[in-house]
Amino acid sequence: MKEVIRVNPKRHPTKYLGEEYQRLVRESLTWEPKELQSSSGPSCTIDGREVVMLAANNYLNLSTHPKVVNAMMEATKEYGAGAGSDRSIAGDMALHEELDRRLARFKVAPASLTYQTGFMANEGLIPQLAGRGDLFVSDELNHGSIIDGIRISHADRKIYKHKDMEDLTRVMDEAERHDPPYNHIWIITDGVFSMDGDLAPLSEIAKIASEHGAGVYVDDAHGEGILGEKGRGIVSHFGLDHNQVHVEMGTFSKAFGVVGGHITGSEDLRNFALNKSRSWLLSGAVPPGVAAACIAAIDVLDTEPQWLEKLWENRNYFIKAVQALGFDTGNSETPIVPIMCGESKVAKELTDFVWEKGIYVLPIVFPMVARGKARIRVQLSAKHTKDQLEKAIEAFKEGGEKLRLI
Ligand SMILES: Cc1ncc(COP(=O)(O)O)c(C=O)c1O
Repeated sequence: MKEVIRVNPKRHPTKYLGEEYQRLVRESLTWEPKELQSSSGPSCTIDGREVVMLAANNYLNLSTHPKVVNAMMEATKEYGAGAGSDRSIAGDMALHEELDRRLARFKVAPASLTYQTGFMANEGLIPQLAGRGDLFVSDELNHGSIIDGIRISHADRKIYKHKDMEDLTRVMDEAERHDPPYNHIWIITDGVFSMDGDLAPLSEIAKIASEHGAGVYVDDAHGEGILGEKGRGIVSHFGLDHNQVHVEMGTFSKAFGVVGGHITGSEDLRNFALNKSRSWLLSGAVPPGVAAACIAAIDVLDTEPQWLEKLWENRNYFIKAVQALGFDTGNSETPIVPIMCGESKVAKELTDFVWEKGIYVLPIVFPMVARGKARIRVQLSAKHTKDQLEKAIEAFKEGGEKLRLI
């Protein structure tokens, strides 16, 4: 008998795209990025106005450091704009390999592997680390790229309350009773949590993991260049090593001022990741200019400690001043300083108020954070001047008083 194919005459292939966008507009959930007409510096030109930039990840201002910029230009002239291929096929240039080695040396670990972005490192490696019969245990506030990486995998997943070591112990004890026993267990955490600027209790996590024979994976995107000796990151900050934290993941897009992701750990980790991460195997290599700029950024961290010192000086100056005004800065322990506002509406109004005064900050509202926990995220950098910080503090003071936050 001939098969009858039913068609839906009412179905439209793309109408829902516009409808969904309109829903986002109605619920004030759309992103409207501001266009920068200058480099990303402590001050930037946006909409033709010069504003103090307090929303960038360029913590050490290395994106405009002459050594980093020159390295990119020289390598581009010599090797071209692109690598010509995926690293796995024909695009693995000497500069990529040198970057891997330099990073491992900087991290004081046996091996590193660099990816195109941090997102691709998480999304490429995490699903390969664990599959059926394995378990991921993840902090509830982990970054979206970790969440997606875990979702792609076939492993079981359990979430523990943010930084709550009792809850982590409970989850791990429960995992021990799983029948059949899990083959592999990984605990995954952000190092610095990007919405709050607080630190994962990595020593405790490593201890709990070792009691259960579990691996530890830390995403140190906001800790590198900021924490530890010479900015080596959170593993160095807590005096741990790659035998206790088995995967140290990071990015060149924040304190390093360039772009690119990476992982660091044992030689086995590198060999495994290189052969299994689909994002590494099946996507173009970063341009040689980018690899050279990342090498130069590592050099700067190694030889110019003044930027790290200035960053912390600015961070301490700013947080003390806003706390003295009566602002709640949440649990910040880093140059990410939240100004807690409560309702989303208040965070947006304060953002608009300080914007009018020439200060660019980002409101972090539901659904990025829980309802009632809206805040403004302030990110300090090494090159902010005292005048720029004072201007921002004064704007927050006026706005905070107007909105009765202080
Ligand atoms: C915690 C964390 N992990 C990973 C990433 C992704 O890094 P990249 O910008 O290199 O893709 C980010 C960037 O937003 C991040 O904040």
